Amino acid sequence: MSVLPPPEEKAVYVERMFARIAPGYDRMNGVMTFGMDRGWREIAVHAIAPPVGARALDVGTGTGDFLPLLAAWTREGSAVGVDFTLPMMQAGQAKVGGTGARFVAGDALRLPFADDSFDAITTGFTMRNVVDIGAAFREMLRVARPGGAVACLEVARPRNLLLRLGHGLYFQRVVPLLARALGADPTAYTYLPQSAQRFPAPAALAQIMQEAGWSDVRYQLLGMGAVALHVGRKRARSGEPQA
Ligand SMILES: C[S@@+](CC[C@H](N)C(=O)[O-])C[C@H]1O[C@@H](n2cnc3c(N)ncnc32)[C@H](O)[C@@H]1O
Repeated sequence: MSVLPPPEEKAVYVERMFARIAPGYDRMNGVMTFGMDRGWREIAVHAIAPPVGARALDVGTGTGDFLPLLAAWTREGSAVGVDFTLPMMQAGQAKVGGTGARFVAGDALRLPFADDSFDAITTGFTMRNVVDIGAAFREMLRVARPGGAVACLEVARPRNLLLRLGHGLYFQRVVPLLARALGADPTAYTYLPQSAQRFPAPAALAQIMQEAGWSDVRYQLLGMGAVALHVGRKRARSGEPQA
């Protein structure tokens, strides 16, 4: 049975769902990915290597797992996480304490920041949840500085047939049971595999990023093909150095 909402209800559905699962989100993430999610975020930040002093933004930051990593790279710069689900950011408060990073409430499709504000932008497992992926990438491009970079982590489906079957079985059958066993919301963890199935394949996502205006777009597969990392760059104005 499909739990996916129609587009006009998606934002409210997503916000309510993440508000419900916020307290157990980190634990479920760790269990579900066998602890690999942290390494994927490290690879993503490394791929765009925010320079010391840079301003970094994490879109759909949730409990802020990207923020300590971004803060460590940018050091005396700044790291901001934006999300429209307040309980997710509240659940992550302790994580950002002492790092200098901060949370800001806002919508990925109308980011509350001026044009050309950030040198580095990350977004992890969020694009699956927005109503319009192209619009989200255009909005990230708007707030990126010329020469700035974006890194996007999202779910993918392994290419190898056997892995693909095992992955489908795991996400569609095992993950909802795991969620139930751990006291998490099984509907939310049924939404996950269903939204993943609808999400564009990595090559199509790269195309969406290019059409949104990002250049030098490339991607790599992680976690045996279960996750895709896309990176892109905002064209520097002529005469300006790359970030
Ligand atoms: C699966 S969680 C990912 C959290 C975090 N980035 C991570 O890597 O664990 C998706 C997050 O995206 C947020 N989100 C979804 N759509 C959004 C939107 N339009 N604007 C802001 N946040 C959004 C949700 O509230 C949720 O916290």
